[in-house]
Amino acid sequence: MNCSGWVSILFMIASAFIYIVINPTLIHKSTSRHFSQQNAPVYFNYKSQTTKKNLLKSPESFAILNDYIYMGLEDGSVVRISTINLSDINHLDDNDIELVIRTSELNPNKTAIPSLSQCADMANRKDFKQEYLCGRPLGLHFDDIGRLIVADASYGIARIESVDGSGINTHDNNLKNKLQITSLVSTLSGKDIIFANSVVVFNDLLYFTVSSDKFSRPEHMYEVMEAEGRGALYAYNFTSGSTALLVANIPFANGISLSSDHKKIFVAETSSARIMKYDILEGTYTVLSDNMICIPDNIKLHNHVLWVGCSQIRSNFVDRVRRFPFLIKLFCSLPGVFFKWIVELVRSKDGIIVALDEISGDERMVFYDYGGEAFKHVSEVQPLKGYLYVGSVYHNLKRIKINNK
Ligand SMILES: *[C@@H]1O[C@H](CO)[C@@H](O)[C@H](O)[C@H]1NC(C)=O
Ligand SMILES: *[C@@H]1O[C@H](CO)[C@@H](O)[C@H](O)[C@H]1NC(C)=O
Ligand SMILES: *[C@@H]1O[C@H](CO)[C@@H](O)[C@H](O)[C@H]1NC(C)=O
Repeated sequence: MNCSGWVSILFMIASAFIYIVINPTLIHKSTSRHFSQQNAPVYFNYKSQTTKKNLLKSPESFAILNDYIYMGLEDGSVVRISTINLSDINHLDDNDIELVIRTSELNPNKTAIPSLSQCADMANRKDFKQEYLCGRPLGLHFDDIGRLIVADASYGIARIESVDGSGINTHDNNLKNKLQITSLVSTLSGKDIIFANSVVVFNDLLYFTVSSDKFSRPEHMYEVMEAEGRGALYAYNFTSGSTALLVANIPFANGISLSSDHKKIFVAETSSARIMKYDILEGTYTVLSDNMICIPDNIKLHNHVLWVGCSQIRSNFVDRVRRFPFLIKLFCSLPGVFFKWIVELVRSKDGIIVALDEISGDERMVFYDYGGEAFKHVSEVQPLKGYLYVGSVYHNLKRIKINNK
């Protein structure tokens, strides 16, 4: 490490210390201040159900079709599970989970790809150096004939379908060797995509977000801190095979969802804590919900309600540090371990999920789990058959009963 590296560490530790001393509210203990300003009911103290230790780890996003939930896991696989087998979620075992595909099949160099168990092992150790090889499936969305579109953080946008090009046969309980994955968009303006995030398919267009063109997924906190707006919303045309930039310079473009009237695409801006709407016909990009109480990740529309998975409650630390560009520079120049340590120290562990009205953007409900025992760092939420299914890159698939407040 060079000298300026050490200087910056000392400086950071000193300023972090001063910050904590002069600002005791820095590390969130209570959030009632935020909630008192809410009109929506807030539900506390949820209990969640989850899977056994090594099953369904870190599902970032889901797609639901014909009683199956499809999800992308930390080992780079897309798997599915039937809701029938999910009825006993605590006792799921490996036989209940079907491998759909590994996104690493997109890599033409087969010898470069670690095995599935190697990928699982590395992800488990939080060693993400080879994630770009293992793949990291994030956003998932079915097209109208049942082909599954995936936004893989490092391999880009791809389509999973039967080998004959038709949709995934949901009733086939032996998918092995019957599916293929084809790349749709892996480069933008000649540069490899390094952090694709979310997808929505509508008619002959596929909308997708890229969160950054500088940092990859494992480096996402740098993107959050710098907040220089390196994300974007794109549309890929299936007929022409071309990709158009719709909105540039989005501060951490994250989850997207199609409005009920099919006229707008909602876009979660993680770094600016707001949900935007892109008008498909007009091409305008305006605010749906500003200054949210949490940091939005994926958003999914069900019955006019936009379910927002929140990575965390808003952090004073991040909000404040971001007002001082020199602090950000120093903070981001810290060696990785220190950077991550400070991030973990200051980020709230409380879990939060918000349901918004898709027209007004007002909060309808807030689910808050103090301490994050039931859920935390939520990436996605979808209601299904009396449960809210909760995805997170920090824990296994979880669900909470909707009406047992
Ligand atoms: C449900 O689980 C059983 C084993 O417990 C498995 O044999 C079966 O294929 C699963 N059903 C579906 C629809 O995946
Ligand atoms: C494929 O990957 C292997 C292992 O990383 C590497 O040694 C080899 O050069 C690669 N081949 C090509 C054609 O890139
Ligand atoms: C997609 O591309 C085709 C062929 O170039 C074009 O006719 C069509 O209008 C495009 N669709 C949209 C929605 O732009």
